[in-house]
Amino acid sequence: MADRRVPALRWEERPEGPAVVLLDQRRLPGEEVELVCADVPALVDAVRTLAVRGAPVLGLSGAYGVALAAARGADVADAAGQLAGARPTAVNLAYGVRRAEAAYRAAVDGGGAVPAAAALAEAEALHAEDAEASRRMAAHGHALLERLCPAGGLRLLTHCNTGSLVSGGEGTALAVAVSVHRAGRLRRLWVDETRPLLQGARLTAYEAAREGMAYRVLADNAAGSLFAAGEVDAVLIGADRIAADGSVANKVGSYPLAVLARHHGVPFVVVAPVTTVDAATESGAGIVVEHRPGHEVTRFPVSGGAAVAPAGAGAYNPAFDVTPPELVSAIVTEAGVVSPVGREGIAELCSPSRTGTSRTGNGMMNA
Ligand code: MRU
Repeated sequence: MADRRVPALRWEERPEGPAVVLLDQRRLPGEEVELVCADVPALVDAVRTLAVRGAPVLGLSGAYGVALAAARGADVADAAGQLAGARPTAVNLAYGVRRAEAAYRAAVDGGGAVPAAAALAEAEALHAEDAEASRRMAAHGHALLERLCPAGGLRLLTHCNTGSLVSGGEGTALAVAVSVHRAGRLRRLWVDETRPLLQGARLTAYEAAREGMAYRVLADNAAGSLFAAGEVDAVLIGADRIAADGSVANKVGSYPLAVLARHHGVPFVVVAPVTTVDAATESGAGIVVEHRPGHEVTRFPVSGGAAVAPAGAGAYNPAFDVTPPELVSAIVTEAGVVSPVGREGIAELCSPSRTGTSRTGNGMMNA
């Protein structure tokens, strides 16, 4: 991953003005192509069409998008609304927008810093925080796995894509797997292909290959037989939103994995930064799940999108599902590990007094 030519997202001062430059994830793994977003509508389109995707980097897109609007002299409030509304489930997007917009407003009201510079500085601060959070999650998650599965090489199953493509650092769940790999403890990374848009087969396999990990891609519906064969030591996934009760919204197909993991006695571990926790959403029922166009299901999402269903076929295409807290073994964050998962542990995680290695016995434990 480290040698990738193009970072997932960067700010660039170009002769024609500033821009947010993305590695276009729609074109991976075949081509590493930059997508230059010189205005907010272009960035919003990139978010909607998944040129940039995954909760933490959506937060960065939101923050840099506000900075872009400010630098380009656009209406910042309008831009913030467009950006925050581009996708509804990943709470990080609105969080990033809010942070940069608040910095911009404070500069406007305070009359000190240049407002556009203040928004950009906030986006850059969020970027650095995200990279640091990623390092800490990898360390906490790796330590947790060593405790849960002390013997033998680890066989980890992951879903969707949660690596450096979604982050200012090395990601969330995949960063944990990378840490295990670098320590020589990974026996196999099982990569769910992740229909309909194949974030696993296209993106996680791309990142795993670059890292030299021992990985294999499987069709999503092969996961059951993999568990039945005793081939999975732990499931590692990311999250788009975690409600106050510990319910986890993540890429559709995560919930069935949690059910399988529980049936087979395998730990189901969620890895996400604290910014993915949305304490204002009381429970999983309150999480807004994005539904996407049916053609993503009825056409194959590569090589021109060949039809795989008859013309006019209807489709059910939720982008995410919600796993209830009782099926989640642990939530790994940069501030520590929540286990058991429930209201108490999530509240402790969100409390201003948290230290990063919180007390045991109340749902937080040292990693
Ligand atoms: O629709 P996507 O590709 O944006 O969905 C992404 C996921 O579901 C990821 O697992 C999640 O954002 C966590 S990324 C660290």
